[in-house]
Order: sequence, then C-alpha cells, then structure tokens
Amino acid sequence: MLKRSHMCGSLRANHVGQTITVCGWVNTYRDQGRGLIFADIRDREGLCQVVFDLEQSPADLVTLSRTLRREYVIGVTGKVRIRAGGANPNLETGEVEIVAEKLELLNAAEPPPILPDDRDADKIGEETRLKYRYIDLRRPRMQHILRTRSRITKFARDYFSQNGFLEIETPLLIKTTPEGARDFIVPARLHPGKWYALPQSPQLFKQILMVAGCDRYLQICKCMRDEDPRADRQAEFTQIDLEMSFVEREDVMDMMTGFARGLWAELFNYDIGTVPRMTYWDAMERYGIDRPDTRYGLEIADVSDIAARTEFGVFKEALEKSKNGRKGVVKAIRVPTPNEKLTRKVLDGYSEFAKTFKAGGIPYTKLGANGFETGVAKFCEPVRAELVAKLGLQQGDIVIFAADHYDIATKTLGELRQKMARDLGIVPEGKWNFLWVVDFPMFEWDDDGKRWVALHHPFTSPNPDQFGILGTDPGGCLSAGYDLVLNGSEIAGGSIRIHDQKVQAKVFELIGLTQEDAKVKFGFLLDALKHGAPPHGGIAFGLDRLVMHIVGTDNIRDVIAFPKTQSGADLMTDAPGPVDPAQLVETHVRSTAPEQPARS
Ligand code: AMO
Repeated sequence: MLKRSHMCGSLRANHVGQTITVCGWVNTYRDQGRGLIFADIRDREGLCQVVFDLEQSPADLVTLSRTLRREYVIGVTGKVRIRAGGANPNLETGEVEIVAEKLELLNAAEPPPILPDDRDADKIGEETRLKYRYIDLRRPRMQHILRTRSRITKFARDYFSQNGFLEIETPLLIKTTPEGARDFIVPARLHPGKWYALPQSPQLFKQILMVAGCDRYLQICKCMRDEDPRADRQAEFTQIDLEMSFVEREDVMDMMTGFARGLWAELFNYDIGTVPRMTYWDAMERYGIDRPDTRYGLEIADVSDIAARTEFGVFKEALEKSKNGRKGVVKAIRVPTPNEKLTRKVLDGYSEFAKTFKAGGIPYTKLGANGFETGVAKFCEPVRAELVAKLGLQQGDIVIFAADHYDIATKTLGELRQKMARDLGIVPEGKWNFLWVVDFPMFEWDDDGKRWVALHHPFTSPNPDQFGILGTDPGGCLSAGYDLVLNGSEIAGGSIRIHDQKVQAKVFELIGLTQEDAKVKFGFLLDALKHGAPPHGGIAFGLDRLVMHIVGTDNIRDVIAFPKTQSGADLMTDAPGPVDPAQLVETHVRSTAPEQPARS
C-alpha cells in the first residue's frame, strides 16, 4: 500500500515541488476529454485536486485512473504544483494540485446512495442520512462537528485534570437512579426475576466517591433515560460529570465558570466575562421559565392588580383560581414596535399555541393613537393609564396577556415569549449569554399525588440558611442547586449535596418515601453518609448540548455520531430489534408484546 505522507486537506503552496502521497475518497471525478482527468480526493482534513495527465503517464496508471468513481478509496503519489488552471479560492488547498505519478485503488465502492456533500445535506431526508451514517459522517460539516466535540472533551480532561480531578469510571449495570425519568432495564441472567437499571446519571456513585476520599471526580459518561427524544434531548446522551469535596456553592460555580471561560477562549478567542446570576423566582417572574434566554427583552410583568379592576370575565375568573397554594394571576408581555409580523392571524394562532400549555387563550390588544384598539381593547381602556405606566407602553405596542393558574400563565407566556422572539426575528446571532440560575425551591407541591416532589433530585441540600425551615415550610425552602444556562438552554445542572444522613432521611420523608422504601432504594447511600461523608457538591454538563451551541445547530442528532431517531431507533443498525427466544429463556423473561414482523 502506498504510504501516506500528507493529509489531503493540509496541502498548501509551500508544498510545491515536493513529491507526496495522499489517501482518501474520490469526492468528484471529471474526465476533461483533453487528455486530462481531474479528481478531488477527500480525507478528514479536506479536499485536494489530483490531475492525471493521460499523455505523460504510464499506460497502467491511465487505465486505472479511468476506472475511478465517486467514493472509491485510493492512494495517490505525485508532485505538488501551482494549479495550472488558476487557484480555487473556495478551497483551502485551492492554490495547488497534485500531478499523479502513482495510483493505487485501495477499495472500490458502489454508487453512493447519498453524497457526502454539505450542499446536499438539507435535500436528503434525515432518515436516509442516519441509515447511511458512514457516508453522512464523511461530510466536511460532520467531520468538523466530530472534531470540535473531540476538542471539547480534550479541553475538559485537561482543565479538570489540572484542577485536581481524577477520571473515574462508574458502572453501567446498576440499581435505579432517581433523575426523574424512566429507567432502561436489563434482565439479570444470574438473578432470575431481577433487573439492572442503566444509569440515568452516575449521581450516587460520584457522591459515594467523595465519601471514599477521592476528593475531585470527573467522568465523561453516557446517561440513559427512557424518555421521548426531542430537538435537544436524546434517550442516550453524554455528560461531563463532576463532583468536589469540601466545597460550597461558590466553589463549584467558580470552577465551572472557569471551564466555560477557558473553553470559549480556546475555541472562539472570546471572553465570556463575568457570568451573571438570577434567582429561580426572578427567572420565573420575568421570563416564565427557569432557563431564560436573556439575549432579548419581551419580559413578563404581573398585572394582576390592574386586571382585577377590569370587567373582563377571563381576568376575573383567573384571579379567583388557586392551585398548589398559589393564587391565579394575570401576566402580560409588552411587544414594542416594530411588531408588524404579529398580524391578527399570527396573534390568533398564539391562542392555539397557548392551549398546548392548558391555557384558555391569549387575549391581546394594541395601543393606538387614541387608546387601545383591537382584541380586548374594550376591557383594557378603563385601566389604560395604569397599564401604560406598568408596562412602559408606547404607541404601536402590542400587549399580550395570559390569565390563569400561576403555573399555567407563567409557563404559557414563558414559551410564547421564545416563540414570539423567533417570529419577530429579534434573537441576535453570535451572542453568548451565560447565566447562573440559583436559589431553586427544594420542592414543588404535587396536587395530584398530594406530596412534595424534589425539584432537582432528592440529594440536593437546602441552602445553608434554609435548614431551619426544611421541616416547617418545605415549599418555601430554597436549595443549593444551580443551573448554567446558555442562550436559553440548560447546559449544566448541579447542587451541593446533603452529607448529613439525618437531613437526607428527612428529605426522603418529605417526598413521601417511607423509611422502609428509602432503605430498599437508597440504603447504601444512607449507610455511606453515616461513615464520614465530607461536605460535597457537583454538577453535570450536557456535552451534546454544549457541542450544539458551539457548532451552531438546534438538532441534537447533528452532534452525536450515531444518534437515535424521534422514536428511539438506530436506523443504521436497525436497533432495537428482536432477540433470539433462547436469550429470553436464559434471562428468565417472557414477553407479553404481540409478535412483531421483522423490519426490512
Ligand atoms: P441533569 O438531569 O440536570 O442533572 O442533567 C445535567 C445536564 O445534562 C443534560 N441533559 C440532557 N442532554 C441531552 N438529552 C437528555 N435527555 C438530557 N437530560 C439532561 C442537560 C443537563 O443540564 N446528576 C445530575 C447532575 C448533578 O446534580 O451533578 C443530573 O444528571 O444539559
């Protein structure tokens, strides 16, 4: 086999005159008919042009060069020269070409079902791209993403290693972890009737590593959550998972801000500056969501007191509601001019959108030269001065309301705010808004289950000044949890943990776990906490989401080499698939599912 001396994408004018060897795939192939054949050869680093001069070359090379087709794998030796036909400014190697002296066919290829060309990617259905992922991944864009992902994990390993973190692996076959999603489960052949769970995160193991004296832990690990995939969510995803001993909230947040600062400096030569903070309740009030996108305004205001003085039945009804210990509210967003894109049709469509969050609709109105006009103008006119003052309204502004239970009104406007920003085209490009969200409530009240539910996970500690009210006012108790938000997406989440066994037992009790249940599920943790657990805390970055931001895509499947579809299928390997009945017998499993025909 010809021995490769250079990568295709690395050739530049300084190589002119050198005899070199490249290996790669035939990207394009053109027989010019004037005794010249041109081929672009592609490898991971890029493309370079090879010229076969049929008149000057030995007969065997001529014959072989004529057999080349797209995606054939070849090796070429030749001399680099300045392009005879003029430079191609669109190609990094565009100043030069290789005049072939030797050609070796390393492997032929069938006509490719898709072409690894970035310009074609949008035209090819994603299903086809995933089925032929080995060709799709040859595209320069996908190679760039894989390379960037690798740079990020390398940076993480270097940064955390320099800061004293040890990389430690935790098991994949474990007992269930309570991250709030459904577990993937695996039958235990050697324990008939028993099952392992795949980790939703290494949460409990990393805490136990702190009890074990490991001090600082890092793992770049797969997490499995049997939930429906979404644009930014996969059932199988990767975390950069961390835990630290003898720390308080500030220490963890500083360490992670340092990581983000270093990464953005390395990749973009960009200073992320000081990362601002916002409390959970501030985020909910102003943005209706615990991961606000602060790149644009459209903030939410509570206008309940003003709405109470109107004659609008929808407002009045909402204000009389009460759920989870919170009274109903009327909230509003001022949409400043220019807002022409929010036509009546679009605004009416928002009511449909609101229904998906269980809201009744989205009343709206507009401030004209002589007062409110359109929509619910009639009801708003009597309180015009108060609304103008509260929302800072100017002529031409649209006001959008949500009136309902606190949770519904808040969530609806929070989601609508993001949709409107996209519809109005006001989401700035090229801006990185990092934000720490802190002071989450420890618990949320679940009216249906009539119990408290942990907002993060039940190992999260109350804030140091909140221990006193943990037992007496669980709903008001704030946790030492923190989320790192980037442009409205949660890229990392973590907390200071409970290291006192009695506090942990109390939290289990509050979320309705009996002592017996707690012992069965988490007895090992409660035991470990009795044996010298240091104060500790940590965080996990969602690696896939981090890469999505960095390479600029809103499709999580773009940043995972072999992702699953919306229905959790791997189209290349055709997983999930049936198993041999003998495997079911061996693992003591009997299926109740109807027989599935084999997929073609
Ligand atoms: P959490 O569940 O918040 O915390 O997850 C941490 C980060 O992982 C990413 N993430 C996901 N990414 C893609 N697909 C998913 N289905 C998915 N779910 C989560 C998010 C999120 O911020 N054990 C805790 C961490 C800790 O407390 O230290 C945990 O897993 O970016």
